[in-house]
Amino acid sequence: ERGYHGVNVGSTSLQGITNNRKGFPTIDGVDFLPDPLDIASNAFSRGLPEKGADKANVLEQIIAFRGAENICAVIVEPVVGAGGMVPPPQSYLAALRAICDKHDILLIFDEVVTGFGRTGSAFASVEFGVTPDLMTTAKAINGGTVPMGGVFIKEDIQQTIFEAAPAGVPEIFHGNTYAGAPVAAAAGLAAFEIYEREGLLTRASGPIGRYWEDALHSLRDVPHLIDIRNYGLLGAITFAPNPAEYPTGVGVPVHNRCFENGLLCRAVGDNMVMSPPLTIQESEIDLFVKRLRQSIVDVLG
Ligand SMILES: Cc1ncc(COP(=O)(O)O)c(C=O)c1O
Repeated sequence: ERGYHGVNVGSTSLQGITNNRKGFPTIDGVDFLPDPLDIASNAFSRGLPEKGADKANVLEQIIAFRGAENICAVIVEPVVGAGGMVPPPQSYLAALRAICDKHDILLIFDEVVTGFGRTGSAFASVEFGVTPDLMTTAKAINGGTVPMGGVFIKEDIQQTIFEAAPAGVPEIFHGNTYAGAPVAAAAGLAAFEIYEREGLLTRASGPIGRYWEDALHSLRDVPHLIDIRNYGLLGAITFAPNPAEYPTGVGVPVHNRCFENGLLCRAVGDNMVMSPPLTIQESEIDLFVKRLRQSIVDVLG
């Protein structure tokens, strides 16, 4: 219900953010798992929230209703990104994996945000010890410098696709204008080299990740905040909704004020979501949090 997977008709149909679906055509036959954000149970938790793994059981109900043979796949962001930066409840992803295995349903992780070091491991699947059947990636695949995306698939699935293809034609039949774009690929190779040399893929699980967590949670005394959450080098804060004064969310005016105060921090409804550079230093985190605090106070008092 909170996932975001992109802007084409297929991915818009799979994502649950109402505002992003409104006014766009969507494909029927998609069911949604419940929103993993549960501030009432998990407010101000650090890392993976304790409560909520039982939300995975809704998948069993959907399977009972649809029939496993009619379900192509389950897709989730291992940590919800654009929808408000929501880490999964402890054991939630493992529970989804177990249910998919039980019913022979493919599990897809959309690692466009979490991939390439964001959570403190190269991929969220590694960090959380849950292996999907397919994994979508983009953004940090080449440091975000040139548009590029990639889908990783298990070998047996690749074999199935390749064996089903008619002889003499490309196995992945569609042609993309930018498939194999050399500049993007070169940027990818350069990014991998830097990730490796500077240890960036695991940096978020080291001291800088803990510094980020402490710095973000130091905002707890700020009035109007009802939640702070983090994982790796991801973070979010949520304001108490105030629809009378801010009908489209408290985030946008705070974002605008942050911008004036020299901080780029994204608004999503009543949330501010954060995904700082993997290279961020402690002094920059201090500045980030200082400017965020100041901007909130400037707007909300
Ligand atoms: C989790 C997630 N999936 C997919 C997308 C869309 O990716 P692309 O623009 O590469 O299609 C985004 C973009 O922000 C995203 O955050």
